[in-house]
Amino acid sequence: MYILGIESSCDETGVAVVEQTGQNAPELVAHALHSQIVLHQPYGGVVPELASRDHIERISPLVTNVLSQINISPKDLGLVAYTKGPGLAGALLVGAGVAASVAAALGIPLMGIHHLEGHLLSPFLSQDAPKFPFLCLLVSGGHTQLMSVRSMAHYELLGESIDDAAGEAFDKSAKLLGIDYPGGAELSKLAKNGNADAFQFPRPLLHSKDLNFSFAGLKTSVLTQVKKLEPNLEPYKADLAASVQAAIVEVLVKKTQSALKATGHNRVVVAGGVGANQSLRSSLLTMAHQMGVDVHFPPLEWCTDNGAMIAMAAGMRVQHGIELGERSYAFGVNARWPLSAVSI
Ligand code: KG4
Ligand code: ZN
Repeated sequence: MYILGIESSCDETGVAVVEQTGQNAPELVAHALHSQIVLHQPYGGVVPELASRDHIERISPLVTNVLSQINISPKDLGLVAYTKGPGLAGALLVGAGVAASVAAALGIPLMGIHHLEGHLLSPFLSQDAPKFPFLCLLVSGGHTQLMSVRSMAHYELLGESIDDAAGEAFDKSAKLLGIDYPGGAELSKLAKNGNADAFQFPRPLLHSKDLNFSFAGLKTSVLTQVKKLEPNLEPYKADLAASVQAAIVEVLVKKTQSALKATGHNRVVVAGGVGANQSLRSSLLTMAHQMGVDVHFPPLEWCTDNGAMIAMAAGMRVQHGIELGERSYAFGVNARWPLSAVSI
């Protein structure tokens, strides 16, 4: 069966098709993505209304594109999956509306997927897919969570950010250094030429007994430092970038280590846009190696938002017989939605 997946929760329009047969793992057969980064850049962040309008224009051509990549017609589809939440309500509604219309027109089932489930299953898009059970460090622009994943659809939240997400901390710090939205990737490039010990930024909740994170204080420290250095900021930018990155990475790695110890998991899966960060990747690898734990990273293109992870999550639900099919085509979205709601 061919499954169409549509992602439109924020600023990327992603469409993909996976093929899923019997108990076999789904296989990605086509995908296409349109990023709205350039559209939002002049505003320094995502403008929800602009995001919704752009999704409206992009989704149908992207659907046509993926179907033509594998030379199939809509009639060959067996299921339509879409991101039901969490995310921007208007943006979600566009994907949900298109998905429900396609499914209704074809008389096939519709499945609303949790965006974070898509992220945490994205490593299954790689050649060396992980095996259950595992610990998942989910680090995106909107979420920072540690989850214990016992098996498909068994997700236990161990800890999360009580304020800003790690991606937000990267983006807000980047903005203070004059880097355009979303600055995470650019900040990490700049950090390569900097000294990570040049500035001592706080490592919030590093020694707290729980597995929660807090990154809001970091941007205040960066702001204070930037103000001290201005107007002569330029020579210090690389050192500032390296020092901020080191603070975020240290907290993420130490908390992941504590979660591994607490749960006894011997495998850790990293998902979400910040998972593309090379410094985080190498620090996690070092820590995991010392603990004798395996680490799985999704290939870089699946770290940030995409349609493939939504189609994959739907395919894996079908594979494991844990369906979320909606009987009617009356679709809805959940802008705020805990992952535990889709956990069994
Ligand atoms: O998962 P994602 O595409 O979107 C959400 O669901 O939020 O993650 C986007 C986030 C942004 O905050 C972006 O700056 C960050 O991932 N990001 C990075 C890197 N690449 C993307 N942060 C640090 N280093 C990177 N290389
Ligand atoms: Zn995301």
